[in-house]
Amino acid sequence: MCGICASIGSGNQVQNVLRGLKDLEYRGYDSSGIAYLDKGEISLCRSVGQICNLEKKIDEKVCAKVLIGHTRWATHGRVCEENSHPHLSFKKTLAMVHNGIIENFETLKSEMKDVEFRSQTDTEVFANLIERQSGKNVEKLISASKIAKGSFAVAVIFKDEEKIYCAKRKSPLYVAYRKGQVMTASDISAFENKFEYFYILEDDEFAVLSEDEALFFDCNGEKIEKEKKNFEKVEFFDVFPDEKCFMRKEIAEEPIVLKRTFFKYFSEKLISEAVFQELRKYKSFHFIACGTAYHSGLLGAEFLQFFAKKSCSASVASEFRYGFQTIKKDCVYVFVSQSGETADTIACADLVKKKGGKVLCVTNVPYSSLNSLADFILPTFAGKEVAVASTKAYVAQVFTLLTFAGKIAGIDMEDELRKFVLNCKITQFDRSLFKEIYKFKKIFFVGRGQDYVTSLEGALKLKEIAYINCIGIPAGELKHGTLALVDEETLVVVTSTRGDLKEKIENNIQEIRARGGKILLLSQLDHNIDVEYKIKLEENLEWLMPIESIFYLQQLALEFCLEKGLDPDKPRNLAKSVTVE
Ligand code: G6P
Repeated sequence: MCGICASIGSGNQVQNVLRGLKDLEYRGYDSSGIAYLDKGEISLCRSVGQICNLEKKIDEKVCAKVLIGHTRWATHGRVCEENSHPHLSFKKTLAMVHNGIIENFETLKSEMKDVEFRSQTDTEVFANLIERQSGKNVEKLISASKIAKGSFAVAVIFKDEEKIYCAKRKSPLYVAYRKGQVMTASDISAFENKFEYFYILEDDEFAVLSEDEALFFDCNGEKIEKEKKNFEKVEFFDVFPDEKCFMRKEIAEEPIVLKRTFFKYFSEKLISEAVFQELRKYKSFHFIACGTAYHSGLLGAEFLQFFAKKSCSASVASEFRYGFQTIKKDCVYVFVSQSGETADTIACADLVKKKGGKVLCVTNVPYSSLNSLADFILPTFAGKEVAVASTKAYVAQVFTLLTFAGKIAGIDMEDELRKFVLNCKITQFDRSLFKEIYKFKKIFFVGRGQDYVTSLEGALKLKEIAYINCIGIPAGELKHGTLALVDEETLVVVTSTRGDLKEKIENNIQEIRARGGKILLLSQLDHNIDVEYKIKLEENLEWLMPIESIFYLQQLALEFCLEKGLDPDKPRNLAKSVTVE
């Protein structure tokens, strides 16, 4: 994880880098820091916690034309100021910020007997590795990168030169240019729209930035030309700019996200019929993803199986990666990812590609690392998602995958989906109902089929932002273990949207109530059964019900979180982009 942002320009870069870091804070917020050239020496300012702490700590007199910054999600070394980036080399000739993991740092460290380390990080070892190389600064960086194993995106300043040096392997890094300022960052969202164009660094490429140019080199130190990318092609949109809580704002944006997705896939016909024609030829589809995106993948598999009668399956990326998989030629491997930067998901796509499999990526960030591996891309149109817990990106993924299933099956869903997106609205979670259920400390989420997936996602939301120990399970599995935990103090959130499974779910509800458990039922169906709490869902096409139901479960998690006085946007121990294994 971690976000890096560095800038060089004709004026003071402090505010530029701080602004960029705030845009990258979703990548981690354990600590942050800056390093800059100050009268021929390198100065550091670092602080534990969010960027606002760093902002307060930076002396307002600091004026630096060359500045590197970092926001950290701790991997090696506990959360403290010493382990915060930037890290200085032992002789203080350079400072660096790093996103990634140097896998051989222990071995390298043991070879540096003369160095007194100030932190427990792998990054400090990398900084010293660079310092020990000979040649020009760019040569030092290239040589050190050849010795380092693992993943890294780094920005380095040397005390003897007013330049920023960058290197990239497996972690993302971008460079943006405008007259009088060149900036580098982990994500293009850190660049303000005043930049003219940007570049995407590929693995084992290096950049040297000065006030008015960016030069690029390959791993042999040869100069390379890179394609300039246009900002116009990157579509972000921001509605409800005044809302302070990003998660609430992002949930509120869901109806707009759906309209936009519909417009892109149906009115603009973003993907040509020829592409669907090509994909129809494949017999099976295997979905691979992490976290919330994995849940979208599970639904994607259900949709394709039902509508297109394809054989479908899904894996969590970290399991697929080290499983004993056979890559099939008649299968499309579908990678779902909001960021397109999740390390395990990328590693799986890489593995599939190397073994000759077809890679289809469903991503929200156009120039992501995952997309660079794709044979086919299905973009999602959630816009920038800031809160760590994914909400609108999930809804965008589910809607995109439903649209995709319809297109592969050759079914015309256009009218029904249009009706849905035009009428779609978020109904506020009833506060008086919430006050009733807030007392429960033990909560399970159950459902069948697509409602089981909704239960998984509902439980994940509650866990990650309200720190409540809860699980989502298939309703039919209750009697194989979890029922032993059900008592008077248990709330079971039952999602029931499949008409054909109405009686089955009613039986499960009876089983829970017989043990004293209380029920919160989310359904559009006419259930003839007594339950303690009920949320009536709108009648919609059955396959749209996962979107309708998750609106409520996302809000339920948010209510729990806010009631406990927690920050929904930055839950403890988590980060939005998990760029490490
Ligand atoms: C992290 C985030 C989740 C996200 C998951 C996968 O765990 O906190 O919200 O679902 O990563 O991220 P991706 O960008 O690949 O969808």
